[in-house]
Amino acid sequence: MIRLKDVCKSYNRGRGEVHALDKVSFEIGQGERVSLLGRSGSGKTTLLNLLAGLDRASSGELEVNQQDLVSCSSVELDRYRQQTVGVVFQQFRLVKHQTAFQNVALPLMFAGLSRAKRRERVLECLKLVGLDDRAGHRPTEMSGGEQQRVAVARAISSRPKLLLADEPTGNLDSRNAEQIMDLLITVQAEVETTLLLITHDENLAGQYTKRILRLSDGRLQQDTGLTLASEQSDLDS
Ligand SMILES: Nc1ncnc2c1ncn2[C@@H]1O[C@H](COP(=O)(O)OP(=O)(O)OP(=O)(O)O)[C@@H](O)[C@H]1O
Ligand SMILES: [Mg+2]
Repeated sequence: MIRLKDVCKSYNRGRGEVHALDKVSFEIGQGERVSLLGRSGSGKTTLLNLLAGLDRASSGELEVNQQDLVSCSSVELDRYRQQTVGVVFQQFRLVKHQTAFQNVALPLMFAGLSRAKRRERVLECLKLVGLDDRAGHRPTEMSGGEQQRVAVARAISSRPKLLLADEPTGNLDSRNAEQIMDLLITVQAEVETTLLLITHDENLAGQYTKRILRLSDGRLQQDTGLTLASEQSDLDS
């Protein structure tokens, strides 16, 4: 599903260059659930941005769902973002003046679905996150935990093959954090997607995923290895 080989990403900063990612290589199988751990500044968000098609690698090979994200055209990258990947951010990033329904519908604007199908899909996703009765509410009328639920619904509305979550519980208290994690696991199974959870919380990673990738100063320091389906279901039961 995901294949990286010697991926580097550097940023120009003043006179110097920052190597945010340095020759990172790993593979993630379809349907796997993996944590990406690392301290602040280790390159986690940089890697997420590459996998989300929001930025491009400086060098190396990066493929998701057999699509080459290094040398593809910007039109292909746009389509990849719309069709293949869904992202949940720490700060929710919902459109404030739009309702929950409209926020979840946003990624479907490009999916070529009929109005009726879009509506059906949005309500189905809101139901999955337990907010079908809040479709007409704006983010400002919801708690942090509820806003993140809407963000999860939005991330899965286009049925992405890859679901990325960047510190999805970073702005939530422990009760809401646990609910959002349980929800991510449930929706992963429901929409049959691959899930990469980015966190600096060792406990969270250990509790919810078998496989851990660890970044340190832009380098992959540890990879506990491909998860077998049987191991993953051990954790879920
Ligand atoms: N747009 C940018 N321009 C210049 N440097 C950047 C840019 N984005 C990130 N960096 C640098 O790249 C390195 C990795 O940053 P990144 O945001 O990926 O870290 P992170 O692991 O997500 O950290 P955190 O846990 O704090 O979110 C840092 O040294 C950061 O300062
Ligand atoms: Mg980050």
